[in-house]
Amino acid sequence: MNAKKTGERAKFGAAAYEGVTGKLPTPFPRTMGPNVMKYVQEVVESGLTSNMTVRFERAFAEELGVKHCIATPGCTPALEILAAAMEWEPGDEVIVSSITDYGTIAGLVHANYIPVFADTAPNSINISAETIEPCITDRTRGILVVHMTGLICDMDPINALAKKHGLMVIEDACQSAFGEYKGQLAGTLSDIAGFSFDTEKTMGADIGGALTTNNDELAERIRFVGQSRGAGMRPGFGRTHDFPGFGTRMPLCTAATCLGQLEIIRDQVRHRDKMIRLLSDLVGRIPGVKPLEIPDYMGVYSAWMFGMSIDLEAFKCTTDEFAQQLADEGIPGVGTGRYYLMPPACTFLEENARKKAYPYSTPPASREYHYADICPTATAFLENWIRWATFCEKYTEEHCELAAKIVREVAERNRKS
Ligand SMILES: Cc1ncc(COP(=O)(O)O)c(C=O)c1O
Repeated sequence: MNAKKTGERAKFGAAAYEGVTGKLPTPFPRTMGPNVMKYVQEVVESGLTSNMTVRFERAFAEELGVKHCIATPGCTPALEILAAAMEWEPGDEVIVSSITDYGTIAGLVHANYIPVFADTAPNSINISAETIEPCITDRTRGILVVHMTGLICDMDPINALAKKHGLMVIEDACQSAFGEYKGQLAGTLSDIAGFSFDTEKTMGADIGGALTTNNDELAERIRFVGQSRGAGMRPGFGRTHDFPGFGTRMPLCTAATCLGQLEIIRDQVRHRDKMIRLLSDLVGRIPGVKPLEIPDYMGVYSAWMFGMSIDLEAFKCTTDEFAQQLADEGIPGVGTGRYYLMPPACTFLEENARKKAYPYSTPPASREYHYADICPTATAFLENWIRWATFCEKYTEEHCELAAKIVREVAERNRKS
């Protein structure tokens, strides 16, 4: 066994926020919908005969306006069963956002596909058709885009590019639940989308997630591969496993929580949109500090975190020192986001590519891969980027004003004369 770790084991969910305090709200304890308890009780009182997961799936699909929702225990497993269900060849490539969470790429890696990271667009945290196009090869099968922080990628040119090359488009909508692009909801802008209802996500429920699609055949294949463990029923025999599948289903009590949270999400997201626009406007007035740009095509900005770049030429301090001072002044959970850059964060990628470990051996790979020192735009962007993922629906206008005041004070204290 060669599993090794650097430093302390990572924490997730509410555990990751233990001891995170300051002068602004944090998401925990989460605001729970008024009917969550009722739905959980229904599950318990039904003696586990409730169809709560199906009810949530129907409700979520209806709210999004799509035909199918396949509920799972998280987005990571959702994208894992999608990757398995695609049955592409080992060594096939999927182009993916370079700035994201590991959960975006885990499924690709486990299915022995090769993640190819597109660089981010200039002045953006997202990838674009222009940065995706040079990554397309004869082994490319799909494009997996991530709407980071809730800012939706410019999907029309990405879909046009994918159509030209016959590629599937997948959205990772984990950070953009119920955000809108040109009036259309995130997660309805591609062939299939993944969502997270993790405790800290915008629709915070539990360790939950979903895939949504309008494609009947794909939805059926995912349920067969990902939820029925690749099994069918043979008369006179019983289950036969015709595919080495998975049993990745959302538990009933999680579905009950998700159903209750779905009832309050649209109002919460509308409020987040108002708050993030106000905060971005206030922070944007501080010389040397630039909040994430909100493109004109964005309708509702379902912001999961607030992010800003600082101009290191304008200040005497480093990005880390600036972030530390913001934390000291009372912004909870503030820090840099370098770990969102997948090529250096997923250290196993470069190691496996260098060793030519399967699927980097040729075959099944068609060429050599390297993950060190790639995506220069994304790397430079994250060097002076500060974010707080504790931005949440509990913010008021006063909180935005206080946050901007703290940023201004730290900026002035460190400004070069
Ligand atoms: C962009 C993105 N993709 C995927 C994931 C993984 O989601 P989950 O924790 O539900 O597996 C996350 C969660 O942090 C995320 O932010």
